[in-house]
Amino acid sequence: MADSRGAWVLVLGSVVVAGVLFAPLPVKDSPPTVAKWLELGHLGSVLALALVAAGFWGFRRRFWPRDPREYRSLQNSMFLVVLQAVLLRAAVELGQLAGSETWAWWPRESWLLMPWFLASGLAVILLGGRFGMLLSLSGVFLLYLRDDPGPLLLVGCLVSSLAGILLLRRSPTRRRVLRAGTGAGLLLGIIAAGQALAAGATLQVMAVVALTPVLIGLGAAVAVLILLPVMEWVLGELSDVTLIEYGSDHQLLDQLKEHAPGTWHHTLNVADLAEKAAATIGARALFCRTAAFFHDIGKLKNPSIFAENIDGPSPHDQLDPRASAQQIIEHVSHGLELARKHRLPRAFRDIIAEHHGVSLVRFFYARACEQLAEGEDAEALRQLFSYPGPPPSTRESGIIALADTLEAATRSLGAKPEAELRDFVGKLIAERVAEGELAQCPLTLAELARVQESFCGWLKARQHRRPTYPKATAQPATATPMDART
Ligand SMILES: [Fe+2]
Ligand SMILES: [Fe+2]
Repeated sequence: MADSRGAWVLVLGSVVVAGVLFAPLPVKDSPPTVAKWLELGHLGSVLALALVAAGFWGFRRRFWPRDPREYRSLQNSMFLVVLQAVLLRAAVELGQLAGSETWAWWPRESWLLMPWFLASGLAVILLGGRFGMLLSLSGVFLLYLRDDPGPLLLVGCLVSSLAGILLLRRSPTRRRVLRAGTGAGLLLGIIAAGQALAAGATLQVMAVVALTPVLIGLGAAVAVLILLPVMEWVLGELSDVTLIEYGSDHQLLDQLKEHAPGTWHHTLNVADLAEKAAATIGARALFCRTAAFFHDIGKLKNPSIFAENIDGPSPHDQLDPRASAQQIIEHVSHGLELARKHRLPRAFRDIIAEHHGVSLVRFFYARACEQLAEGEDAEALRQLFSYPGPPPSTRESGIIALADTLEAATRSLGAKPEAELRDFVGKLIAERVAEGELAQCPLTLAELARVQESFCGWLKARQHRRPTYPKATAQPATATPMDART
């Protein structure tokens, strides 16, 4: 079903791209006729575009995981291909303008960098480096179909745009986007200046030809940064730039640090666990890290009732287990309220809602079972002690839910041999699977095994202790700040 919907997205996308690239402009061309389309070879071009679609289809099947986001990713990628086609057409038309008397000084190739860097830059930031590369390659093919500008220019645009993508790939920040745009422009400028030199151009023309792509590259990078919030909203994706900003500075995180230090410490561990596990299975690691920072913000409403913040007698000692469980469960709805109030992205709100799934507040359920009156049914109580859900629906959500359970369960775990740790983590994951907590989450068994391995590695690293140094027999004559660090 999803496959046939995906095929339709690709077919429609290809037709729109063909229309954008080849439709005659009413202001400068006579109305199109079928004969003219055939005469110009456009039909062949449309068929050739099917090749691009087939390439995307193969790419999708090979690299995109089975995930509810998959279909949306395909739509989003086609949206970016159409955007690239629109920009490419604009660049080609502007390039023809540049051929006129008035614009004779303007190096035509510099326009071509704009669609490449803008579309593939947005693709790298929003959908990942692999897709950015694919978009860059499809751009060359589309330009060749529309208006073959010669091999040197095609290769120049491709090389400079790939260089820009490589500069952008790892954790793009605003500064890195600007650097990548300028770098791509510089590379194209050097290639264009070489071409001008070979054609016997004057020094002045060569300087213009070399510098203009740099300015265009920088302009494209600025355009990427301006368009990014709009595209995130349109495509429903969170870029790494935005994730880094949320994770490094947010009022809610400051409040957690100040008012719920125990929860903050737990949050940091969950974020670390989830990020590492996500990286091992190729899920969105930075998203896991940042979303995990916000998963327990609902505890801010009443931090002192949660185990990690209790220092001394527990307030639950005086409460009925039902009342205690209700207070604990409410941190999910309080978290969603706070997230809405602070306009957190939808994807973060999903993590808050799903991180406990429909699991049971075991401690208080067990206590309530101990206090059951004659004839009361323990099973009937389960509903009262269960989170409302929904269960995790994405790989990232599943990983955060598992990391959350594991962190809470191992907090009081002392030093254990590796085999025992492995056994403990395995049982914990198996329990969640058996309870159907991960039934709607697209994590495969092979991925779960890798997640388990990553969790074990993290726990083992946490157990590592520094050797105990022998006590100093005498104080040094003068203590320096360096002494405190050893
Ligand atoms: Fe929680
Ligand atoms: Fe938690």
